[in-house]
Amino acid sequence: MRPHILVTKRVFPETIAFLEQHANVDYQSADEGLTPEELMARAHGKQAILSQITDAFSRDVLARLKGLGVGMIAHMGVGYDNIDVPAATDHGILVSNTPGVLDDTTADLAFALLMAAARRLNEAHAFVHSGQWKRFSLDLMVGVDIHHRTLGILGMGRIGQAVARRAAGFSMRVLYHNRTRLAADREQELHAEWVPREQLLRESDFLSIHLPLSAATRHSIGEAELRAMKPTAVLVNTARGPIVDEAALAKALAEHWIAGAGLDVFEREPQVHPGLLACPNAVLAPHIGSATVETRMKISRMAAENALAALSGRRPPNLLNPAVWESWTSRPEGAG
Ligand code: DGY
Repeated sequence: MRPHILVTKRVFPETIAFLEQHANVDYQSADEGLTPEELMARAHGKQAILSQITDAFSRDVLARLKGLGVGMIAHMGVGYDNIDVPAATDHGILVSNTPGVLDDTTADLAFALLMAAARRLNEAHAFVHSGQWKRFSLDLMVGVDIHHRTLGILGMGRIGQAVARRAAGFSMRVLYHNRTRLAADREQELHAEWVPREQLLRESDFLSIHLPLSAATRHSIGEAELRAMKPTAVLVNTARGPIVDEAALAKALAEHWIAGAGLDVFEREPQVHPGLLACPNAVLAPHIGSATVETRMKISRMAAENALAALSGRRPPNLLNPAVWESWTSRPEGAG
């Protein structure tokens, strides 16, 4: 029997066509996605859900989905803080994500934000666009150098490492802080030096955040950390908004505790703290870290492949809770 999959919001037509080769697809083709109640109604009779970051899977939601027979959430994205994975594990629901395919694209955007904030590109663009540019001036839109400066990377996973590789082209000194130190040969390859967190904050000219969001990392950059940074420093966040205390950051930018910020993620997306909107030294983007056609296509395909693998009895390649896999395959209703 063909399995049934729910796709919670708009994806590429190619993804739907691919899924439909193997399954019956209930497709919410709008960008709005589903409310929790709509999700429950539509999840009825589905074995898998293809989800996006705006879908919230709390313990309660997962318990109800389990009751409806949903066995797999194939998430489109590398970050999965919108899914209570331990609760999914308790309920025997498989969860997968899409690691690896978006590292370089997200690192590109982190670097683009770093450069834009350093060289005041958003201000420069607005200046030209609004007709204010009348003549060349020696000190017009002067920014700060990027080359030969110190890049600090907080969170040295795959994306952090991809950012470090880009820094080599700018002859930057690379410092990083991560709970686990990289192997010596990897540090050598990246020309990256592990330092304590306090030193990272103190010495970075650019601080780029690449941590996952968790209870431990929420607001891990707040007033104390921002005050510890150089007044000439630029903060870049392409990871998750709530890692940074946005109110503290708005104050830091307005009062010039730091020089600028490049932000792709926010605490309450799509809302942005009004203080940040008022800061000319903040370059803001609407959560587009992995947003290139190629990469978003790869993410969608990878999530679809994870879902279809589970439904045809194969272990999903990007499973986040492997403990569930054994019980899944031994279910009386089988794996697809
Ligand atoms: C990711 O992959 O985590 C992106 O932020 C989109 O969810």
